[in-house]
Amino acid sequence: MKVLVIGSGGREHALVWKLSKSESVTKLFWAPGNGGAQNYADCVEISGENIPAIKEFCSSSKIDFVVVGPEAPLNLGIFDELNKAGIKVFGPSKSAAQLECSKVFTKLFCQKHRIPTAHCWIFEESDKALDFLKSKEANYPLVLKADGLAAGKGVIISEDEKQAAEAVKIIMVQKEFGGAGDRIVIEEFLRGEEASVMALCDGEKSLLLPTARDYKRALDGDKGLNTGGMGAMSPSPLFSDDKKSNPMLDEIKAKIIDRTVSAMAESGFHFRGILYAGLMITEKGPKLLEFNVRFGDPETQVVLPRIEDDLLELLLSASEGNLAKKEIRQKEEKCVAVVAASKGYPSQYQKGFEISGLEQAEKTGAIIFHAGTKKKDNKIVTNGGRVLNIAALGKTYLEARNKCYEALKLINFEGMIFRSDIAQFN
Ligand code: AMP
Ligand code: GLY
Repeated sequence: MKVLVIGSGGREHALVWKLSKSESVTKLFWAPGNGGAQNYADCVEISGENIPAIKEFCSSSKIDFVVVGPEAPLNLGIFDELNKAGIKVFGPSKSAAQLECSKVFTKLFCQKHRIPTAHCWIFEESDKALDFLKSKEANYPLVLKADGLAAGKGVIISEDEKQAAEAVKIIMVQKEFGGAGDRIVIEEFLRGEEASVMALCDGEKSLLLPTARDYKRALDGDKGLNTGGMGAMSPSPLFSDDKKSNPMLDEIKAKIIDRTVSAMAESGFHFRGILYAGLMITEKGPKLLEFNVRFGDPETQVVLPRIEDDLLELLLSASEGNLAKKEIRQKEEKCVAVVAASKGYPSQYQKGFEISGLEQAEKTGAIIFHAGTKKKDNKIVTNGGRVLNIAALGKTYLEARNKCYEALKLINFEGMIFRSDIAQFN
């Protein structure tokens, strides 16, 4: 089978790596890919958002199956366009992708189908939102969210009315996130511990993936700015025994994942793909913060190395509405990944520095997933904020993390930064 993976980050490198182990994959392409492709896939210089060009490539290269990494092409309807042309796609349709692409859609959906989530108010006009902020109902802190996709930046937590009014202006008046801010969701602030759970869905059924925890803040001790993720580990210590029945996971699957998949099917939007639930585990149980309709990054980089099953088979059967397996088989081992980033990330950073030591690092048994890299004059150079994910399996978290940090010592590029406390328990 000829397979095309869409996207250019560490998540997509992990997908390409795992798919390359499948016997049924005869040829792998990756659009646009990154500098880590060399041993697995042929890179194709097309952005996943250029759907006509992707469609043309699929037809001319006789691609059998397309696996979509990021949410943007899904929001643009890549599934629907390729499907019309008879090309199989892993990822939800544009209508089903609303679960990530419209917070208003998801909040109304949760209310209708009794899916536990924060209480909320929705506004289409900034004046009405500002009036609400002054009302008795407004108990601070409140969380203000732009309706649409905002590259992870459209959520603002406000301690008082002044901050909240500023957030309304940023989102709805200044339109910092463009059309994503045409509507606003104002949410009750939930307290508890955050967790995320990913499930493979076939439109009617779901299977939970191994659990994972990511590290969102830039600096050790969970300090500094929010980032796309500076590291991850699987399983999540919150569900440490995720192979056996875990009551919290069972509740999340029943009340959030399965209820969503069934209600989407009843509404005519079969959800096929990865449903990623960002959750707050509150005193009253797990509540949904947000859905993503794709694999998490960097969670995927620690989840896929722990999956025993053939990934192509899993993804294909989900996309065909035909998940036959009862569970996804998981390795006992833990997996840890540490992100090597460019100095300055997540703010300003420079690119184009040569990366050394990659081969030596791989010889230690670590798995190097490239993120922001590219090949230039036969060298691998930095090409983004998050540059590499250094992943390793181990019998314990400690063994896995030690392997990551040993491998990391062999890698270098100008301005390399990383957190030193990934998977460290004190
Ligand atoms: P979201 O993109 O909706 O997941 O929001 C991004 C982050 O904002 C989450 O990971 C939480 O840390 C925080 N957040 C979102 N909604 C809430 C809420 N209702 N209560 C508390 N924190 C929240
Ligand atoms: N790691 C969070 C995300 O993929 O959205």
